[in-house]
Amino acid sequence: MSGQSIYPVSPELAQKSLLTNDQYLSDYKLSIEDPEKFWGDKGKILDWIKPYSKVKNSSYAPGNVDIKWFEDGELNVSVNCIDRHLATKGDQVALLWEGDTPDQDAKITYNQLYTQVCQFANALKEQGIKKGDVVCLYMPMTPEAAVAMLACTRIGAVHSIVFGGFSPDAIAGRIIDSKSKLVITADEGRRGGRTVPLKGNVDEALLRDGTDCVESVIVFKNTGGDVAWFEDRDLDWAEVTQSQPTECEPVAMNAEDPLFILYTSGSTGTPKGVLHTTGGYLVYAAMTFKYVFDYQEGDIYWCTADVGWITGHSYLVYGPLANGATTLLFEGVPTYPTTSRMSEVVDKHNVTLLYTAPTAIRALMAKGNEAIAGTSRSTLRVLGSVGEPINPEAWQWYYDKIGDKRCPIVDTWWQTETGGILITPLPGATDLKPGSATRPFFGVQPALVDNEGNILEGAIEGNLVMLDSWPGQMRTLYGNHERFEQTYFSTFDNMYFTGDGARRDEDGYYWITGRVDDVLNVSGHRMGTAEIESALVSHPKVAEAAVVGVPHEIKGQGIYAYVTLNAGEYPSPELYAEVKQWVRKEIGAIATPDILHWAEGLPKTRSGKIMRRILRKIATGESDQLGDTSTLADPSVVDKLIKENQEIA
Ligand code: WT7
Repeated sequence: MSGQSIYPVSPELAQKSLLTNDQYLSDYKLSIEDPEKFWGDKGKILDWIKPYSKVKNSSYAPGNVDIKWFEDGELNVSVNCIDRHLATKGDQVALLWEGDTPDQDAKITYNQLYTQVCQFANALKEQGIKKGDVVCLYMPMTPEAAVAMLACTRIGAVHSIVFGGFSPDAIAGRIIDSKSKLVITADEGRRGGRTVPLKGNVDEALLRDGTDCVESVIVFKNTGGDVAWFEDRDLDWAEVTQSQPTECEPVAMNAEDPLFILYTSGSTGTPKGVLHTTGGYLVYAAMTFKYVFDYQEGDIYWCTADVGWITGHSYLVYGPLANGATTLLFEGVPTYPTTSRMSEVVDKHNVTLLYTAPTAIRALMAKGNEAIAGTSRSTLRVLGSVGEPINPEAWQWYYDKIGDKRCPIVDTWWQTETGGILITPLPGATDLKPGSATRPFFGVQPALVDNEGNILEGAIEGNLVMLDSWPGQMRTLYGNHERFEQTYFSTFDNMYFTGDGARRDEDGYYWITGRVDDVLNVSGHRMGTAEIESALVSHPKVAEAAVVGVPHEIKGQGIYAYVTLNAGEYPSPELYAEVKQWVRKEIGAIATPDILHWAEGLPKTRSGKIMRRILRKIATGESDQLGDTSTLADPSVVDKLIKENQEIA
């Protein structure tokens, strides 16, 4: 990664964008020097039922982390995303839907969205759902996913969305931890010409112990596929909705009332329930959407992320709708039924703002010009990237081919925990460097620290931390504030630790170098090595496992698993396939290991700790750089693994 090539903002682009560099610099300065004033003003991007008189009240003090924004204000998210646009934009399309195949599509105006959300909110109320209840969503990428989210917010229910690619066990774990009262799902989803058994997975999840908190399941009939039906529990979306009143009084929520829980993987333990609250989250999602994508009236915006991830929350639904935008939901995949599907969808719907992930870009890049054949993409204005570092080659291809060298790329760095984008270029303000997420958004104070927590100055590499709070920051881990403090605030005192490493160059630009903890990023999906290991060792024939990430051309990182079998068990091609399949079933397809390395033993310290640093080097073929191996209990284990790795490669 070199900092050599620069793509300066053209005077023409600066002129037609919302912000110039001078405005960015002066507003950024104000946002740091006087956050009260800056955010007090920007909070007005929303409509408040009761205006706030306090803006920021946050402390990162060890043992006493407490984050509040706009704490005495009251608002309703669905009102901000729908009602307030009706007077001027009732007939404008709010949700554009494109199905798995090009013959399936739909348009839902703000007026229609209002009616659907009110009716569904009334249906939820009829099922006894009240303010503060947790509702689990396991949905396909259809407009009903957004309708269900917004209906929850209308009545103050807290949604917990589980990505549609997760397994029954993963659903059950999240239902149990969040104590969900109701599940919303569909019969099946569609992806790349295949169906996904959503209802079947929910049925299986609800057989698990501890899931009896769920009283009912609302099922949207999407494909019409055959599914089991439990009369005492299952409800048909259409039936419970159709005769509901088309108005539903929105519940006034305090700014700090919970909005949603979203589970994400960490370096240890089970997935963590990240909790976001109402006011600060929505202010931040709305502000970042507007300025990062330079949103202007008439834009057609397409984010390819699934609603099951944070990107789908903040930049598919809440940020765009809070701005009154038209947002496109796509149920399919970028290369089906044709290699150029993504570009075709851009042309079909006149997309102006496109937000996707490096893994998708690399998959298209591998197909060369076929990915853009026969398309013009001439409506595109801004391109976005998210989820993992974008390598300069993929950046260049995205810029040259998808954007025809016309469109700035915003490489947006953020996390489930941050609620919204923290480090990013702004189209009319920031000169671009391929591979760099560039500079902080308003109110964001990144710093680099060494392993002792000393702040590093100038052009240097270190651990990426945030020195102060921003409105979109997570407030706690659901039901476990201690783990929240431990995970994010105990590594370095008085700082939020991101888990990422970064380099800052001579222009103050940030270059994210990737996770510095035991978290993998596979195709932009976050996976804990500990989670995959625990799935592996739950296989009856597996004694021990250690998982590391290895570079992968399309996925960014691949999953390399060292597996030790129980005594008396022996490797075979059948067992290889079986163990891979096992992990897939335990967690979901995204966690399937790319490579299994049958290992008789793992390198351990004399106290029995697995030395992952060494395993990483062996997996990536860098066995000449093992570093200090003097603490190994049995050095011969390493030589054997190196030899085996060479055979695998
Ligand atoms: C991790 C967060 C944020 C929405 C999607 C992922 C990595 C994210 C970038 C980027 C380099 C990135 C980081 C981060 N990441 N965006 N533009 N450049 N790395 O959310 O699942 O919470 O994962 O994704 O490692 O910590 P997530």
